[in-house]
Amino acid sequence: MKRLYFGSNLKMYKNVHDTVCYLKELEALTMDLDRERVELFIMPSFTALAEAKKNVQRIQIGAQNMCWADRGQFTGEISPCMLEELGVGLVMVGHSERRHVFGETDEEVNQKVLAGLRHGMQVLLCVGETADDKKYGISADVLRKQLLVGLHGVSGQDARSIGVAYEPVWSIGVDGIPASPDYAEEMHRVIKDCLKDIFGEASGSIPVLYGGSVNSGNARQLIARESIDGLFVGRAAWQAGQFNRLIRDAVEAKIPG
Ligand code: PGA
Repeated sequence: MKRLYFGSNLKMYKNVHDTVCYLKELEALTMDLDRERVELFIMPSFTALAEAKKNVQRIQIGAQNMCWADRGQFTGEISPCMLEELGVGLVMVGHSERRHVFGETDEEVNQKVLAGLRHGMQVLLCVGETADDKKYGISADVLRKQLLVGLHGVSGQDARSIGVAYEPVWSIGVDGIPASPDYAEEMHRVIKDCLKDIFGEASGSIPVLYGGSVNSGNARQLIARESIDGLFVGRAAWQAGQFNRLIRDAVEAKIPG
């Protein structure tokens, strides 16, 4: 049976107290979900990671970013060792806001991917084309480049620790327009083909999640598509009750009954 993935990046919205309240509520609401079928993860701010880890058992906690180096002259950065110390075993790298607000390059993203794997973490690599890339018809090329560079040097063995989130830049956030299920499916196929070129059969273990203005109105149609293995949700996930309903709706749409 295919496993489905649901996660949320809390961005810079919830303090420690709000994060813990949210996680406790979400965990209580989703307690009965079969974890063989549904994997749930939440990425709070760095300052809330320690308390988040202490307060939930059945929701995986991940970091929104990290430095590629273990230690050194990197003022303001958080190292993989520091995440390890907190027991955080999942890290997101290359989120659109890291790339486009903070200027992260594919090469830096690659260094972070490799650092995460070196530390035995699961790594969620985010990729996505801009509106201009789409306009000029180079979306597939951009995605391929982000994957080929981002995953450079990753072994077939380590492919098991990789997940990919496809988040078109134009679909994210308050001004975002959600990708149509047809378009998302087409890009997910591009991603899966590229992963197969890189890892061969080992690519079969890599889940590819869609993100960007996912909401209760489009979650079912998106998840129903063959190549969409999960949903990476921002705003529509930040209230536990709303996210719980979205997850249940989506699970039902993918696995009827
Ligand atoms: P959104 O955010 O669902 O609020 O568009 C998605 C994301 O940035 O991961």
